[in-house]
Amino acid sequence: MKPTPPPRTYRVKSFGCQMNVYDGERMAELLGQQGIQPASEGEEADLVVLNTCHIREKAAEKVYSDIGRLRREDGTAPLIAVAGCVAQAEGEEIMARAPAVSMVVGPQAYHRLPGMIAEAVEGRRSVDTDMPAETKFDALPARRKVGPSAFLTVQEGCDKFCTYCVVPYTRGAEISRPFNDLIEEAKKLVDAGAREITLLGQNVNAWRDEAGHGLEKLVEELASIDALARIRYTTSHPNDMTEGLIAAHRDIDKLMPFLHLPVQAGNDRVLKAMNRSHSADSYLRVLDKVRAARPDIALSGDFIVGFPGETDAEFKDTLRLVELVGYAQCFSFKYSPRPGTPAATMADQVAVGVMDERLQRLQAALNASQLAFNRASVGKRCQVLVERRGKYDGQWLGKSPWLQSVHFSGDAAIGDLVEVDLVEAGGNSLAGRLAGASPRPDLTDRGVRVAQ
Ligand code: SAH
Ligand code: SF4
Ligand code: F3S
Repeated sequence: MKPTPPPRTYRVKSFGCQMNVYDGERMAELLGQQGIQPASEGEEADLVVLNTCHIREKAAEKVYSDIGRLRREDGTAPLIAVAGCVAQAEGEEIMARAPAVSMVVGPQAYHRLPGMIAEAVEGRRSVDTDMPAETKFDALPARRKVGPSAFLTVQEGCDKFCTYCVVPYTRGAEISRPFNDLIEEAKKLVDAGAREITLLGQNVNAWRDEAGHGLEKLVEELASIDALARIRYTTSHPNDMTEGLIAAHRDIDKLMPFLHLPVQAGNDRVLKAMNRSHSADSYLRVLDKVRAARPDIALSGDFIVGFPGETDAEFKDTLRLVELVGYAQCFSFKYSPRPGTPAATMADQVAVGVMDERLQRLQAALNASQLAFNRASVGKRCQVLVERRGKYDGQWLGKSPWLQSVHFSGDAAIGDLVEVDLVEAGGNSLAGRLAGASPRPDLTDRGVRVAQ
């Protein structure tokens, strides 16, 4: 590679889970500290960080087409760094397959980016997929500006080794960040504008402090930060849903009534083959306890259809479970064999056509469940955290406590918590009316023509 002038502008593109979004924001802060500015909308950046996801084949292949698209008409390209889980999983392979890439950096080594950029400027390519003892969390600068809803990674990695999943290999063993560091970072986020914090982890409810206390202790302490209005956490594993954390849903008002608790499948043989270490029944019992603690809780989950060997009858157990739970929203995927995972070499891989058909049936059931949940919210008055402007003049978009998107018009600003009456439900969002505000007069009813 030829030496290039030091980059003046950057763009970070994050794919995959919210932990990548969080890492992307912290990398951006680091690049800013190096004197590199964010490229403005539409402008080509001198340095592009592709913060990738390896969870399914499609997501992983995307990085190569993205790299191709970065090539300019004159044949040159910006400096390209591949970060994230594809970087960790495919390190050297990316270097061989994509000569335009000058840096490959795994999720635990982001703080080493400045050194890698200096090498790239000199024309040297580098790969760093170490999992060093010093953590990126300590070494990366804190974010100085965030929106009303901010992410905070509290736990990383996974020791569960579900047989289909790459995360234990790409993110390493479970680690919990220290309690005091988290409180300090949360306070900075609040000072930077956050009114809601979502605690993140691949298994966020496996977080423990130095004395072995669970996530509820962190939630409790965060709830004492006055200017912080809302706390959420994601993603949780059913086996780490402790009595203490369930009780927090009853006792701590700022903890929002929403729980993302993936189950993956409704059949016990399939769950066992997935190495999920819970049964359909033990999962449902956890949900019963959570509902007893917080009756209005909105439930969410993840599903995989077409795991190797899944029969149609076993798939129907998943549909039955969906029926029983009444989810507020969910993610569902076709099984994707991932290199190096045990399931990838299991016999009886399910045909793509069968997976397609199962996914359609599952998604129809999940969509119906989501619509029913949203419809049941109509008539409720709730607080909405305003996150951005809507499509129309004077319209705002925000989130209900149950993580539904709500749009409404009227006097508000980004970051406000406003009282809204939910008046109409669609599958993906609800219409609200500012409580106390009178409805907009419908002039057409009175024979007045309204300019379009
Ligand atoms: N730690 C979380 C989820 C992490 S990955 C948990 O245990 O639930 C996010 C979701 O991607 C998973 O819940 C699963 O539904 C899906 N997923 C993971 N590996 C997959 C694969 N090989 N094929 C299809 N979907 C997969
Ligand atoms: Fe993957 Fe299972 Fe760990 Fe979730 S719990 S990250 S699905 S291995
Ligand atoms: Fe994807 Fe890695 Fe997250 S594989 S889902 S970016 S942990």
